[in-house]
Formats: sequence, structure tokens, C-alpha cells
Amino acid sequence: MSTPPQGKLPLPRLAELKRDGTKIVMVTAYDAPGARFAEDAGVDVILVGDTAAMVVLGYDGTTVPVTMDEMLFLTRTVVRAARRPIVIGDMPFGSYQVSDESAVENAIRFFKEAGADAVKLEGAGPSLSRVRAIVQAGIPVMGHVGLTPQSATMLGGFKTQGKTAEAAVQLVEDALALEDAGCFAVVLEAVPAPVAAEITRRLTVPTIGIGAGPDCDGQVLVYHDVLGLSEGHLPRFVKRYASLSREIRDALESYAEEVRSGAFPEGQHAYEMPAGELDAFESSMRSPSRSRPSDQATKTSSTASKTQAPAPRSEPPLRKTSSP
Ligand code: KIV
Repeated sequence: MSTPPQGKLPLPRLAELKRDGTKIVMVTAYDAPGARFAEDAGVDVILVGDTAAMVVLGYDGTTVPVTMDEMLFLTRTVVRAARRPIVIGDMPFGSYQVSDESAVENAIRFFKEAGADAVKLEGAGPSLSRVRAIVQAGIPVMGHVGLTPQSATMLGGFKTQGKTAEAAVQLVEDALALEDAGCFAVVLEAVPAPVAAEITRRLTVPTIGIGAGPDCDGQVLVYHDVLGLSEGHLPRFVKRYASLSREIRDALESYAEEVRSGAFPEGQHAYEMPAGELDAFESSMRSPSRSRPSDQATKTSSTASKTQAPAPRSEPPLRKTSSP
């Protein structure tokens, strides 16, 4: 076991929030800016979700292809930027299905190499012994039942789960079994609201809903969905709080148009040099030892441009993150 870094929300605080009736806010993030935005917004938990396969890596309608190495890379970038929120690494398909041993090995990689505070894995049944093994290794685990995208093919697609009484009872049992196996919280995805409410009442650990109604102890949404960066069809449980893809498209179109028309860059975006240095530079370029056949033409046009577009008087401010 390790001591959490200073300022980190202590994991047991999530159970206290449940007891106090304070909702837990969770969002996915996949890079440092996203993690910083989430932290500054007061988000409690950041999930580096395997939805990265779709929203970051460009796979169409499946989370299965994302690899351990890709998930570790993304998790590390989030961990670097997030101080207070608990950061959870989502175990990708194939990283915990084979055996308890390989599940523990891969969870350790999230913990040790990427610096995640906890891991998440999908399902109950065969996943229960994985949860027990990882928790015994000292790594906190978040469970995930209902629509579990890694097994979407077996579930018949991205569909609401627990819609029959029998399936709903099974969901309650699965969630209880995950708590019993040691999960510190359980995600309920695409589950009828009354079923999620019943699970939330029965569990002592928090439930985090996504498409599971208002009675869960917390909510999670995918970063790109919240911000309107995802395009095309979205599940009905998504609420967009911004339309960033429109803004990004507009901005890039304007940039392309201005580069092509010459409207960008303007004088304020260019650097000047002292007049004496410029004169010396130009005469040095005109000296016979440096002359080239095309110099005569260049000389005429450079003199013309110098008189037409004087360099700006003051240096533009330098950005800290880029070279001048
Ligand atoms: O991978 C993910 O983003 C998730 C959330 C949708 C819960 O599992």
C-alpha cells in the first residue's frame, strides 16, 4: 500500500459522500488538458476510460482494440495533470480476462507505471475472482455492470440491460457480489432507473451511473460527449454542455482561409530586427561573394517589400510553451 499524494481526494471519502447524500462527479479524460479542466471544475473522479478506443484512437463503435500500452500512455498523461481527483485506469479487453495472475500483473502496471489510484474492470461472474485478486494485491477496484461495452457483441449490441425482472434481479446480485469482492464503487451503465435506484439502496459502496437515472450516488459521462466533441449519433443518456466540435471546425476553417488569402500572419505575429542589423544583413546578402544568378530579381522585390510593409515596432509577447 502507498500513501496518496498530498491534496488527493482520499478514496474512503467517496463512501462518506454517499452516506452524506452528496453526489459524486466523475468524467472521463485522456490527456493533460482534459485532466486539468476536470480538476479545475471540481470533478471528484477521472476515469481514463477504454472509450479512448473510440473517442481518441478512432475505432468505430468498439472499445476492444485499445491495448494496455495505449491505456498506460493515456493514464500517465492524466495522472501528471490531476492532483485532487482520484484517477482510475480502465483495464482494456484482454488485460484481465485470461487469469487472476495476469489481471493482477496488468493492474500493477496501471498502479506502478502509470500512477493510477485505482483500476476499473467490467462484469461480475468470472470478473469477481479478478477483483478479489487485485484488491488483495493492494489496488482499489471499481466495478462496472449493466451495459459492459467490452462484451457488447455478447449482449447483442449497445443496449439497455436489466429490462426484464429476471435480468434486473441478476444485476442487483452482480452489483452486490462486486461489493462483496472488494470494489470501492460500481458503475451502472444503461440500466433502468428503478433498478439502479434499488442497487444504490442495497450497496454500501457508491454507485456511479451512466444512463442509470438520477438516484445513483454519482454520475459519469464521456468527456467528448459532455463537451460536444463527439459527432454523429449519441446515446439518449448523454447531455451536451457545449458544442466544441462546431467551434473547432469554424476555427480551423477560418485559419485555413486566412493562410490561403494571406490575411494571416499579420505584422503583430512577426518578429522584427533592429534597423541597422537589417541594413547590414541586406548588404551582406547583396555582396558579390554571396550573389547568385537570381539575386538581381530578389534585390528589387526585397527593397519593395521593405518599403511597403514595415516590421512592427514592438516584439510580440512570447508564448511560454513555444519557441520564439
Ligand atoms: O470507458 C469508459 O469511458 C467507461 C465509462 C463510460 C463508464 O467505461
